[in-house]
Amino acid sequence: MQDFRRLLSQTDPAVFDALLGEEKRQREGVELIPSENYTYPEVLAVLGSVFTNKYSEGYPGRRYYGGQTYTDRIESLARERACALFRAEHANVQPLSGSPMNQAVYFACLKPGDTVLGMELSHGGHLTHGAPVSHMGKIFTFVRYKTRTDRQGAIDFDELSRVAKETRPKMILCGYSSYPRDYDYRAFKAVADDVGALTMADVAHIGGLVAADVMRNPLDGGFDFVTTTTHKSLRGPRGGMILCRAAHARIIDASVFPGLQGGPHMNNVAAAAVTFKKAAEPEFKAYARQVLANARTLAAVFLGEQVSLVTGGTDNHLLVMDTAASFAMDGKRAEEVLDRIGITTNKQVIPDDPRPPLRPSGIRLGTPACTTRGMREPEMEALAGWIVAALRHADDDARLARLAEQVKALCSRFPVPGLAPAPV
Ligand SMILES: Cc1ncc(COP(=O)(O)O)c(C=O)c1O
Repeated sequence: MQDFRRLLSQTDPAVFDALLGEEKRQREGVELIPSENYTYPEVLAVLGSVFTNKYSEGYPGRRYYGGQTYTDRIESLARERACALFRAEHANVQPLSGSPMNQAVYFACLKPGDTVLGMELSHGGHLTHGAPVSHMGKIFTFVRYKTRTDRQGAIDFDELSRVAKETRPKMILCGYSSYPRDYDYRAFKAVADDVGALTMADVAHIGGLVAADVMRNPLDGGFDFVTTTTHKSLRGPRGGMILCRAAHARIIDASVFPGLQGGPHMNNVAAAAVTFKKAAEPEFKAYARQVLANARTLAAVFLGEQVSLVTGGTDNHLLVMDTAASFAMDGKRAEEVLDRIGITTNKQVIPDDPRPPLRPSGIRLGTPACTTRGMREPEMEALAGWIVAALRHADDDARLARLAEQVKALCSRFPVPGLAPAPV
């Protein structure tokens, strides 16, 4: 690793300088974006390995190129480990990321114009769930269900069932980017069975929490397809995967390759295999439990300070704070203020947000990354207090500077895995 760094510094000082800057940013700041994490040093090593040199179109034992002894071995390992981890009968580990994994499922099961019933985007769904600006939103017809803001974000199953009967969707989709609660998958499945729809859960955000069995597994609830990214709470390389029953294996594999993609990124597949091995270990279960405990602690401090949280709290790793209601400040400004004290969050629409997406009413915060650094309840209490102080005194430069020092001092006690401590 050290040789690579010296070489890079000589070959391309501009890129090396950006790398040093990003390392410093990650080391000295607190990452609260819920979709981010710090991966394992072993994963970083495998990502930067010679597996990146190899073309492997096809699947183990059925490739379009020679020289696949080791790539076949790692892809088979990744698939077996993924199936064991999620109690799936089949896993496709080739999707290059979360967006293509979802597209591959849609194209495997739907024809252009078919109807999909998915979560309203401002209530927590993702762009790939048929946002009008996405290609998927143009190819398929997406209809929506919502959460009950008056019932701590519970899904409105009466409404969902009514819309399903009215629109007869081919697929019912659940999954989220900004929904702070868990799902009752059996209730979705019951509605889907009623109207003869397939079921798909996109657990991109909570993949690690499902793998660790601290959140429900849609496959246990009878779902047909589960998609997840490998880089969020699973803590692995950037990538996506599709889990399903053996009966759907053929259509899913054909949809990923040759339907949607060419050669898989075998360095990612190898790194995913390492990630799945780690996720099956008891330490990962403890990590996942702490992710939830840390999110609950943040929520408790915010609620104690009368800060408004969407759905009134959290059952998972993320929180959505209504900064407009709590601090008379839109989410863009809140994100910028917190950036100034070294805490990274992201602006976020809230259910039925009257404001535009680039200046929405809230921010989203989550605990996977800071928990990987070893932060626990006392650090969450401190962080939540500093966040409230910064947002209440956003125009007080001296106060923000003091808070930034406190954040930096906290970070110095919690090294980022895979990053050397700051040079002294
Ligand atoms: C629920 C959900 N699905 C899919 C994706 C897309 O993943 P990617 O950004 O890797 O394409 C995301 C990304 O944030 C997500 O939150």
